[in-house]
Amino acid sequence: MDNKYVAPPYRIKMVEPIRMTSREEREELLKQAGYNPFSLRSEDVYIDLLTDSGTGAMSHFQWAALMQGDEAYAGSRSFYKLERVVKEITGYQYVIPAHQGRGAEQVLLPQLVHHDDMYFISNMHFDTTRAHVEMAGARAIDCNIDAVLDTETYHPFKGNFDVDRLVMLIKKKGAKNIAGIIMTITNNSAGGQPVSMDNMKRVATIAKESNIPLLIDGARYAENAYFVQQRELEYKDKTIQEIVFEAFQLADIFLMSSKKDGLSNIGGLIVIKDNEDLYNKCRTYIVPMEGFPTYGGLAGRDMEVLSVGLLEALETDYLQHRLDQVRYLGDRLREAGVPIQYPTGGHAVFVDCKKMVPQIPYHQFPAQAVCNEVYLEAGVRPVEIGSFLLGRDPDTHENLESPLELMRLTIPRRTYTYRHLDVVADAVIAVYNRRHSLKGLTFDYEPPVLRHFTARLKPIK
Ligand code: F0G
Repeated sequence: MDNKYVAPPYRIKMVEPIRMTSREEREELLKQAGYNPFSLRSEDVYIDLLTDSGTGAMSHFQWAALMQGDEAYAGSRSFYKLERVVKEITGYQYVIPAHQGRGAEQVLLPQLVHHDDMYFISNMHFDTTRAHVEMAGARAIDCNIDAVLDTETYHPFKGNFDVDRLVMLIKKKGAKNIAGIIMTITNNSAGGQPVSMDNMKRVATIAKESNIPLLIDGARYAENAYFVQQRELEYKDKTIQEIVFEAFQLADIFLMSSKKDGLSNIGGLIVIKDNEDLYNKCRTYIVPMEGFPTYGGLAGRDMEVLSVGLLEALETDYLQHRLDQVRYLGDRLREAGVPIQYPTGGHAVFVDCKKMVPQIPYHQFPAQAVCNEVYLEAGVRPVEIGSFLLGRDPDTHENLESPLELMRLTIPRRTYTYRHLDVVADAVIAVYNRRHSLKGLTFDYEPPVLRHFTARLKPIK
């Protein structure tokens, strides 16, 4: 759409107060939190950019729908409404709700693993997807393009699969040992970067030729479609709904954390194109894990909210504004010289902290140090995506070195204004201007698994 006016396409009719703290208060709060923003109370955060997952604002249509939730244990009317919407968007036959994305993963992924030596290949596995691949007894291989690692250089579709490597990997491991190919759209861990339709088509052809199921991990599939419309010439006159539908026809299975492009605070989906046998297996396993197949861990009211949110997330005005907010924050940082993953992706601005604070080695967690400084500066809570999150080598117990040390400034949907983003930009720029004085962190307490959530750190003097 040709529109240079990109103020929010909504007005605000309910507000949630937020509180700015003093620098002294924040110093004490961060110390109490063990220099790990995950342990801060949200009340002590002024602008919360930890995640875009479940943190968006609902529309009045969603609030109205919420009141109509049918809370029946079996055969809820709200389920059938959700099923109708999902079928319309995807063209798939089978829909099973789950409590969130990882709930969908834990039920579906093990059904594709048939023996001990199997692999999933993805443009990049999200953490929980990787965890569920491994819990299902398979191994996860990332097959991203190299451009991802070069944060400075423009690439319209940095989230793409490396197709040549994919072919090589299938040959090397043997097609019968590949449990599935997972297309993550947008590619969260790479910086919310989109995948082109052309790339998806190539991957789909390879999957089909090798008889390997193709899964879409589509937490942010609507944002991906917007990038396709904007950047892939062939799609410039297609609607978001058309692009999304075309993408789904390429795959066999759609897994979704609907806390993102479902515009809901909770929810997930397993959607299967036509494999009845797989559907029956998932229907069986979902009962002990998530709940009866017509609610899958969700309340009827959650399914009502999701039915509306899924369609709102496909509206062009909404997407244009959303992606413009991310671009706006990215541009402000770039203009001040802050190194970011460029171009900005769909849901966040990722600051390249390896470039920003090269004096801090990976085992002293450079991006975590920057996140903490940004909190101290203005009460803004970002999240680290780097060596702190990556953990240790299970064999040698050494800290693993992440190829990228990123601070993610994740923008919740329909929640903050451009003025909030100015505060974020000013804070990050202030920290950037004193970057040479930043120091690293070391452990005070390190939990054995998923350490970044609960670890306590202390600054290195
Ligand atoms: N897949 C992708 C691509 C994700 O980004 C997430 C969650 C999941 C699966 C798991 O979904 O949280 O509903 O269980 N991403 C959030 C984030 C947590 O902050 O990026 P979930």
